[in-house]
Amino acid sequence: MRFSAALSLSLLALASLTAAAQTPAQPAATPTAKKSVVPQSKAPKAQLASPQVTAPQAAKAALTPPMGWNSWNFFAEKVTDKDIRGAADQMVATGMKDAGYIYVNIDDTWEGKRDANGVLQTNSKFPDMKALADYVHSKGLKIGIYSGPGPQTCGGYEGSLGHEEQDAKMYADWGIDYLKYDLCSFIPAVMMKQAPNDKAAQMKLMIAAYDKMNKALKATGRPIVFSLCQYGWDAVWEWAPSVGGNLWRTTGDVSPDWDRIYAIVSQQAGLEKYAGPGHWNDPDMLEVGNGHLTLAENRTHFSLWAMLAAPLLAGNDLPNMKPEIKAILTNKEVIAIDHDKLGRQASRVYSDGEVDVWARPLAGGAKAIAVVNAGDNRYSTHPFHLSLAKLGLHGPQTAKDLWTGKTITLTDNMPLELPSHDVLLVRIPAPK
Ligand code: GLA
Repeated sequence: MRFSAALSLSLLALASLTAAAQTPAQPAATPTAKKSVVPQSKAPKAQLASPQVTAPQAAKAALTPPMGWNSWNFFAEKVTDKDIRGAADQMVATGMKDAGYIYVNIDDTWEGKRDANGVLQTNSKFPDMKALADYVHSKGLKIGIYSGPGPQTCGGYEGSLGHEEQDAKMYADWGIDYLKYDLCSFIPAVMMKQAPNDKAAQMKLMIAAYDKMNKALKATGRPIVFSLCQYGWDAVWEWAPSVGGNLWRTTGDVSPDWDRIYAIVSQQAGLEKYAGPGHWNDPDMLEVGNGHLTLAENRTHFSLWAMLAAPLLAGNDLPNMKPEIKAILTNKEVIAIDHDKLGRQASRVYSDGEVDVWARPLAGGAKAIAVVNAGDNRYSTHPFHLSLAKLGLHGPQTAKDLWTGKTITLTDNMPLELPSHDVLLVRIPAPK
């Protein structure tokens, strides 16, 4: 990763400076070679009044959680123009597009240097961004790009600091439909420098930086989905819509490990009140099909992202996607839960030992329920008993199991045997 030594040191300094005052750290992303240096510690909360939510003007482009594919989780810094074209081709060929995956998002490492007029050039991996955008659009898809408010991106490439209007205009000229805006070097370069000992002032600077790009995007007149990536700092869910955020990362980076995915899921409980059409909590991109996740883990990961009304941005190797992974990613009934028009994110209704029960209301009075076995060692001698009463349900319920496609009857305290890290995901069309 081309993250400059100076910047890495500054981030380390930030981590140790904030350590004394910080609330317990969020679970860190499992470090992998491809991941860039992102502070995983949680900054102390600033004492700021919540800005007024003014979501509607930005909301139209993301009335349902954005769906697509992003280059980072599989290609990381190696991504090229050819990979993006290939991803677009595969999204059409595999049926992903038909299932609703529309955005093809280029993550970090496309950036070159600025010319004498401050115009950012692409690097040699992306010879012609306008032509690439045209190609993606010609497939009936949309295209996303990545930058950050600091002088450098997380990967150490050129950021947008001081060039926000210029960059936004360039994105619009290229035909960009989506921007992921990643905090990273803004922390040492601006927050730490301008307000070294004042956390509240640092957070204000951060919010202002997101608002600056929000205004620059709006000024282009092109609807561009605005994705905030600042790892959930300072209760971003409380203020992101007021700076035009259509989605905002709620945690540090995901990785293709069950423990990391489960830790992220656990951090979403309680955030449901902040999500709705046009503005979504983002527990990070999908790792379905990546690493060594088992089939059950892939299924549970996808089910929970759907329950959480999360953006569904696949991040797998599309040309080599296995049929069972494609079946998960394109399960239309699960996607329909994610995209239910009420836009109500699930809440964790109760946990019992290592089993969690999540539920969300759906349009037309229906309900979705996910029962997740997060444990490793539960056997049929001690099955889990599902409490319908705790879910506000009375008597037997007719439900559809969205992974087997079978109609089942749920009864109060029924024993459930779920394999380790697996899920029961059901839709109850007429709950009683
Ligand atoms: C951060 C983000 C990731 C990815 C990388 C790119 O780590 O959280 O999602 O965009 O930067 O450098």
